[in-house]
Amino acid sequence: MKRETRLQHPPEVDIPADNRPLNLPIQQNVKWTLPTVEETQRMLRGERPGYFYSRMSNPGVRQLELALASLQGREDCVTAASGINAITQLLMALTRAGDHVVFFIEGYGPTRQFITGLLAGYGVSHTMLPIGDLEGLRSTLAAQPTKVVFFESPTTPAGKVADIAAITRLAHEHGALSVLDNTLAGFHQHGEFPVDLFVHSLTKFATGAGDVMGGAVIGDAAVIKTVRPTFQLLGAPIDPLAASLMMRGLKTYLLRYRAQSAAALEVAHFLEAHPACERVMHPGLGSHPQAALARAQMPDPGCVITFSVRAGAEAGRRFTDALQLFACTPSYGSTESLVMPPQLLQPRDLDAAQCAMSGLGEGTVRLSIGLEDPQDLCADLARALEAPGPG
Ligand SMILES: Cc1ncc(COP(=O)(O)O)c(C=O)c1O
Repeated sequence: MKRETRLQHPPEVDIPADNRPLNLPIQQNVKWTLPTVEETQRMLRGERPGYFYSRMSNPGVRQLELALASLQGREDCVTAASGINAITQLLMALTRAGDHVVFFIEGYGPTRQFITGLLAGYGVSHTMLPIGDLEGLRSTLAAQPTKVVFFESPTTPAGKVADIAAITRLAHEHGALSVLDNTLAGFHQHGEFPVDLFVHSLTKFATGAGDVMGGAVIGDAAVIKTVRPTFQLLGAPIDPLAASLMMRGLKTYLLRYRAQSAAALEVAHFLEAHPACERVMHPGLGSHPQAALARAQMPDPGCVITFSVRAGAEAGRRFTDALQLFACTPSYGSTESLVMPPQLLQPRDLDAAQCAMSGLGEGTVRLSIGLEDPQDLCADLARALEAPGPG
């Protein structure tokens, strides 16, 4: 064999069948081959296992999907290149022109923008309600056939808690699918509710390192089977390297989530007692408007705290700039603490009345608590809250 040929057909390295690597090696590879055309056809018909093209499936990505499904207490999962990509592909898979979806004003901005913009452009109508308006949900569902009820709990950034059992029951009574964006609650919570599909941004808690992007839809095998072809067709898979980093990150996921939840509760108590703060929202606080519901649904209350700087938006900006241990940046769930000031938190697609309805005030700030010592974080917050104003 000439060198030119050898380079395209390198020597094969066999790993003995009884010599298993402990971590699945990264299969940074697109094309898979079987010995015969007939075996390839059998595999494509689902009559034997195997891989063909990594946009359709890849061993490391598949391992991630199965790991996420088992964490969430469901049978199957399909992944995508980002959280919003999982949401948009899912809604495209589930709806057709003439369908109707219900969603909530407090939800993640780009989801709202997709439903009111692109999806509406494809002929899918929508109703937007406040997350606590169960009566409004009931009458909306009674008034028109609805395909999907899409909701979040807790909502971000406002930190409201949805009544998952009630929303899901109403959706099912009216023949709609319930889809819960469970990103903030993590992969291990809410699985006991009969939600049809869970959606996650993997960009937050999967690694906690802020080094990869991804998204997932988790549900029973039958429903994932109906949406997976759309994901394969739209073609935005997770890269095998990202999947491998997420598998590595998931090994510490529960430890991180629980430690960050406990630290966030400690910081939330501190903020609640501070005279410069008001409306501190964290699902673990006794003062949360849905404290009992939050505790019953979500034993680990999460790492996000929303509160208002009493003196308003400008003071919120000064406070953010004065912080030393909190990075001013989007996202949450990372091992470093993060802050979003009022100026960056206010959604551009909502007017002032809608913002107020969604739970955002003029001075609302969002914190994501990381793995630093909570007392160091409280000292930093105290110093920044007392930072002198102009003059
Ligand atoms: C609740 C929620 N859903 C979806 C997303 C989108 O995830 P990604 O940034 O991975 O696209 C986010 C991101 O902040 C989010 O907070």
